[in-house]
Amino acid sequence: MSDTRRILLIAPEGQVGWELLRCAQSLGKVTTAKRVHENPQLCIDLANTDSIRRVVETVKPHIILNAAAYTAVDKAESEPELAEQINSTAPAVLAETAKRLNALFVHYSTDYVFDGTNKYPYKETDTTNPVSVYGATKLKGEQAIQAIGGHYFIFRTAWVYGMRGKNFLLTMQRLAGERDLLRVVDDQRGAPTWSRSIAEASTQILAQSLSPRLQLDLTELAGIYHMTCGGNTTWYRFAQAILAHAEKQPTLEPIPTSAYPTPAKRPTYSTLCNSKLAQTFGIRLPDWENALTLCLDAGK
Ligand SMILES: NC(=O)c1ccc[n+]([C@@H]2O[C@H](COP(=O)([O-])OP(=O)(O)OC[C@H]3O[C@@H](n4cnc5c(N)ncnc54)[C@H](OP(=O)(O)O)[C@@H]3O)[C@@H](O)[C@H]2O)c1
Repeated sequence: MSDTRRILLIAPEGQVGWELLRCAQSLGKVTTAKRVHENPQLCIDLANTDSIRRVVETVKPHIILNAAAYTAVDKAESEPELAEQINSTAPAVLAETAKRLNALFVHYSTDYVFDGTNKYPYKETDTTNPVSVYGATKLKGEQAIQAIGGHYFIFRTAWVYGMRGKNFLLTMQRLAGERDLLRVVDDQRGAPTWSRSIAEASTQILAQSLSPRLQLDLTELAGIYHMTCGGNTTWYRFAQAILAHAEKQPTLEPIPTSAYPTPAKRPTYSTLCNSKLAQTFGIRLPDWENALTLCLDAGK
């Protein structure tokens, strides 16, 4: 079966997409689609629903992995229509086409669907209340997929980093080389999550879900799952952990969010509870500090 299983991976050059391209080969034949592709049939722009339908019809996948999103949290405040097309409308079109083809649709969402007022890690059943355009458009995407139904997984993750793309780890490493003092927000709490941990867990879940031996019911399994590294910390503590491995050690100063105003509001507390993932699939991502060490070692 895995010889003939066709997998469509959208956005193979994003942080999660890059790692998925490497992990998902074990599940079948991976075909990538991205905005600029050497094969014009595989050019996809999530802001253009015709291009989504054309690519899916071309590949006729058994699995669709959607690693694409409008992820510029601050910019989304001034581009709400585009963020909505990519984060809300496109996932709905993908879910519809997946359902028509009886394909399994894998989509990623965010801790920013919550407002951050919880005092304990958010469960999948907790009330959502996004405080940014990005969070609101991602939530609308989730809701559209759920309304369409079929076979789907929505993995909510958080604070994603890796050795490529735009992320906090690479920004801290760059700034450490350029500055002697770094002021970092110390009153937002979440779980830094390595992109490779997300891709590995996603691949393991798909392997289990599609195992002919296990014969799992994909309709029953469909739903939202929280998927972050274990533990939680603040951006300041995360920066400390990153810079502990850096060659040059600038002075780090903790600051409140109020001293670092941004166009988009962020939840103060957005730790996610990963118990559903562990109980359903027996899978836990590493604790954030272990994952950071593994990521930095892998990047050497
Ligand atoms: N980054 C985080 O901290 C974070 C936190 C929580 C959840 N998530 C979620 O995790 C998932 C993966 O995020 P990530 O960090 O891997 O994202 P990323 O590194 O920003 O990559 C996003 C990818 O989406 C592609 N893309 C954007 N607009 C597109 C469009 N109109 N058509 C086709 N492709 C488009 C980009 O392609 P181009 O190169 O062409 O721009 C890029 O490859 C997303 O669903 C995101 O919402 C991320």
